[in-house]
Amino acid sequence: MYQQNYRDIKDDMNTSKNLIDLIIEAMKDERHDRVKYKMMMDMTKKDKIKEQIRFAYEDEGKHYKMFQYIFYQLTGKQIDIPIPEVEEYDELIDAVETSINGELAAVELYRKIQSMLPNIGLRDMLFEIITDEQEHATRFTYVFSMLNED
Ligand SMILES: [Fe+2]
Ligand SMILES: [Fe+2]
Repeated sequence: MYQQNYRDIKDDMNTSKNLIDLIIEAMKDERHDRVKYKMMMDMTKKDKIKEQIRFAYEDEGKHYKMFQYIFYQLTGKQIDIPIPEVEEYDELIDAVETSINGELAAVELYRKIQSMLPNIGLRDMLFEIITDEQEHATRFTYVFSMLNED
């Protein structure tokens, strides 16, 4: 009986460690994507394309703050992730293609984080972020098709 309880507690500790790691990973990704999308906006002169990328650019800033808040709720600690280096692209369309995949991978990661969060308030925040990322994937798919027509 004692053994069983001990194992449960240990599992809980492992789960929460894992959750914290995933939130840090999410914060890094949000920072990365925001820098990448700024770079992508500077790669085009077309307002129609810039506009689509700007939606995602602004959301990633909001998401970063939301994950920072979630991290604080779970640990009582305020953290900041340094702004990362971002890979460079010769062609905007290549950056758009990796962004579609990146957004879909984010949806997968955030579903996992959502399932591990301890209360409905935090899970609702993840729901908002997940639907934003799905919207970004759709917008980038649209941008991809616009660029393909050129
Ligand atoms: Fe995001
Ligand atoms: Fe996104």
